[in-house]
Amino acid sequence: MTEQAKILLIEDEELSREPLTKLLKAAGYAVIGVESGEKAFQLLALEQFDIIVTDLFLPDVNGIDILKKVKERSPLTEVILITGHASAETAVKAMKEGAFDYITKPLNFEELQIIITKAVEKRQILNENVYLKKQLRDKFGFSNIIGNSAAMQKVFSRMKRVANTDSTVLILGESGTGKELVAKALHFNGLRREKPFIAVNCAAIPETLLESELFGHVKGAFTGAIRDKIGKFEAANFGTVFLDEIGIMPMHLQTKLLRVLQEQEVERVGSTKPIKLDVRIISATNVNLEEEVKRVKFREDLYYRLNVIPVTIPPLRERTEDILPLSMHFIEKNCLEMKQPVMTIQKEAIEILELYHWPGNVRELENAIERMVTLTDGSTITEQDVPTNIREQVMTRVTERGIDLAKTVSEIEKQMIIEALLLAKGVKAQAASMLKLNRTTLVEKMRRLGIENPG
Ligand SMILES: Nc1ncnc2c1ncn2[C@@H]1O[C@H](COP(=O)(O)OP(=O)(O)OP(=O)(O)O)[C@@H](O)[C@H]1O
Ligand SMILES: [Mg+2]
Repeated sequence: MTEQAKILLIEDEELSREPLTKLLKAAGYAVIGVESGEKAFQLLALEQFDIIVTDLFLPDVNGIDILKKVKERSPLTEVILITGHASAETAVKAMKEGAFDYITKPLNFEELQIIITKAVEKRQILNENVYLKKQLRDKFGFSNIIGNSAAMQKVFSRMKRVANTDSTVLILGESGTGKELVAKALHFNGLRREKPFIAVNCAAIPETLLESELFGHVKGAFTGAIRDKIGKFEAANFGTVFLDEIGIMPMHLQTKLLRVLQEQEVERVGSTKPIKLDVRIISATNVNLEEEVKRVKFREDLYYRLNVIPVTIPPLRERTEDILPLSMHFIEKNCLEMKQPVMTIQKEAIEILELYHWPGNVRELENAIERMVTLTDGSTITEQDVPTNIREQVMTRVTERGIDLAKTVSEIEKQMIIEALLLAKGVKAQAASMLKLNRTTLVEKMRRLGIENPG
């Protein structure tokens, strides 16, 4: 604990309480000493303590009752009991009720200090665990997956339905659409959240190593196998294995994977001893597996086994309404990380982002926003701050899409009629003759184009 550990000392004998309080303070703890159970309960209602050191025999309550109450209210607080005389029976009872340890009178201060140090260490580890778990939950909570579009709402509702099950999920989507984010959210919000989440990127591991990575090997199974090694499946036991880029898995491993899934057990490479498994499988791919099945590149039976619940994340360009909330989410995230006030982004800049085709999907948007936040002076991101490659691509696409001829012609027509009317000082017959039109045609055009006589 970087902060001082907080200790509550409950001891009715002043002659013992006062010196002990001093010694503990000198040892670097924040200590409060009280003389009765009642005083202790008053304090406990107001404050949290890391450690409670209490005499077992107090005039008003029994130390065991204090222990029970503390454990009920704040299970992470450690309680150390001081007993008048060694009574094995009381000690056993205390430990059963969850005491950290006990110490007998006459007190040996050094002994007490060792016990306290151990209790503080335990608290620290527990605190870190609680903190890390909370961090993981926050980081991979559903609320961190942004998406207002109907397509993403569909993804969320499916995720909510399957998170708390052991169903096998196949996540489909282009690169950077958030497949891994979805896989982690499913795990960290599901039944197996306290157990390991092990990701294997089938594309990043050389084919020759993939088998031993997944299933482990025994010493001597092949050159270089100098000791036994457990595979990702075993490491993930009772948790989730995330098979990323499953579409690239070589055929012979597909066969082996299928067997593992069917039998629910693995054999390490070089061994014939099966090891029982209980893992949830979530896989992801950006290749069209149905096509791969047709091309006989992917086993059909494996495909059906993996594709129990499909979750399809559409490309970003097909859900442009997510671009604004995603941009704001990333702006906020980056600004907070850089410890600066959260910037705003101009509508025109968002419009460009909405027109871009995002081949790298959300990942590309995340990177672009990071760049904009870093490079923008001031508090507003403008059109000019949008990376050049994005702006250029959008401009080219707008021009490629061509000019709307009818619209452009009407605009030119309108402009010329207004000019003629101005020159003719509003005399329609004169303006009509300048435009080589008859008067009724001019009046008709003015009505259609919404022109007021400016003359
Ligand atoms: N809907 C979303 N909300 C917030 N962040 C997202 C969203 N989708 C993706 N991201 C972010 O975009 C980045 C890419 O996401 P992720 O790695 O999950 O994509 P992927 O589909 O697994 O990509 P690849 O196919 O390249 O492996 C991550 O930083 C992720 O946090
Ligand atoms: Mg990925």
